[in-house]
Amino acid sequence: MKFLTVIGARPQFIKAAPLSTALRRRFTEVLVHTGQHYDHEMSDVFFEQLGIPAPDHHLHVGSGPHGAQTGAMLTQLETVMQDERPDVVLVYGDTNSTLAGALAAAKLQIPVAHVEAGLRSFNRAMPEEINRVVTDHLSTWLFAPAAHAERQLAVEGIGRGVHVVGDIMLDAVLQHAERARTLSRYPEAANVCPGAFYLCTVHRAENTDQPERLAGILAGLARLDRPVVLPLHPRTAKRLKEFGLTPAATVRVIEPVGYFDMLQLERSAAAVLTDSGGVQKEAYYLDVPCVTLRNETEWVETVEVGWNILAGTDPDAIVAALDQHGRGRPSHPPLYGNGDAAEAIVQVFR
Ligand code: UD1
Ligand code: UDP
Repeated sequence: MKFLTVIGARPQFIKAAPLSTALRRRFTEVLVHTGQHYDHEMSDVFFEQLGIPAPDHHLHVGSGPHGAQTGAMLTQLETVMQDERPDVVLVYGDTNSTLAGALAAAKLQIPVAHVEAGLRSFNRAMPEEINRVVTDHLSTWLFAPAAHAERQLAVEGIGRGVHVVGDIMLDAVLQHAERARTLSRYPEAANVCPGAFYLCTVHRAENTDQPERLAGILAGLARLDRPVVLPLHPRTAKRLKEFGLTPAATVRVIEPVGYFDMLQLERSAAAVLTDSGGVQKEAYYLDVPCVTLRNETEWVETVEVGWNILAGTDPDAIVAALDQHGRGRPSHPPLYGNGDAAEAIVQVFR
């Protein structure tokens, strides 16, 4: 069986690493990098650290508006898929690379496997929501991280091909957490001590592209009782400059970090504040309280158990959420499997 995997953005490199290893033990995999992310610290660093094989095809599409970026991917993916003739096209998550991979394959009548299926924010203003809804409806195999996602697919009339396998990002955390401890120089490299800082990441378009929301987050961070380490996504860096916004002196702005440094920062933070899907889950896996800088999340289970609090971008709500976390730690059951999602997915194809 021949798989063609389409990846292109930071979280997809991390998700692909464990599954690529498991797939290649039994099957052939062709790896396609769309080039959606291209800076060294947004792409190559993950291939180096996680031992992801070099892409067989690199499309170098780069940045651009949604239509142009997705269209450029589609045009090239169609040719690559026609040449490679895979049995399955594998896509991850909800980025424009996911949508392009699924759409190119579906038009060529190549079956699609979607890892992280069934997640919904019910907010169609998010580009990711459109990408994941379309991808799910084009997929033959839908790998859901939890029962909630499976139920959502059923509500949308998708029953066949759905497998609850857990979260592939937990596989990655478990495989690399110990190495991260040895190899990373953080949090000390950011001039903070373990347990004495907050970690923040912000990159969602809904937060970065609306000056009032971005300013709200910065105002919230400025009021916190500990310094904040902020590895800055290039989208956010660009918007801060454009809007003339500057983080407070207590916010240590650093370049985006590699996966080992990120795990180390997450696990040694007093709490994590983020609008990232992946970071919300990693905070949970690493037992660190999370405040989500959005009005909704796809990872509803983390909110239901109380480890994740939705604060949006209002400074008062951000401060209140951390206060609430300070009042005690709720229970911490496994929500997204045991870290064997890659093996569970491979078993489906045997
Ligand atoms: C994309 C995904 C988002 C995902 C995120 C992970 C879509 C619609 N969005 O958002 O779901 O959570 O990746 O990080 O697919 N840029 C650089 N260097 C890079 C990459 C991007 O400078 O290596 C800058 C460019 O100015 C670009 C901007 O960041 O215009 C946004 O990049 P893009 O890939 O379009 O979206 P993300 O915000 O990264
Ligand atoms: N990440 C990283 N370095 C950073 C920020 C994030 O390695 O500076 C990792 C993080 O640990 C997680 C993934 O990138 O595994 C999350 O990606 P991102 O927040 O870009 O996207 P999302 O998960 O929201 O789609």
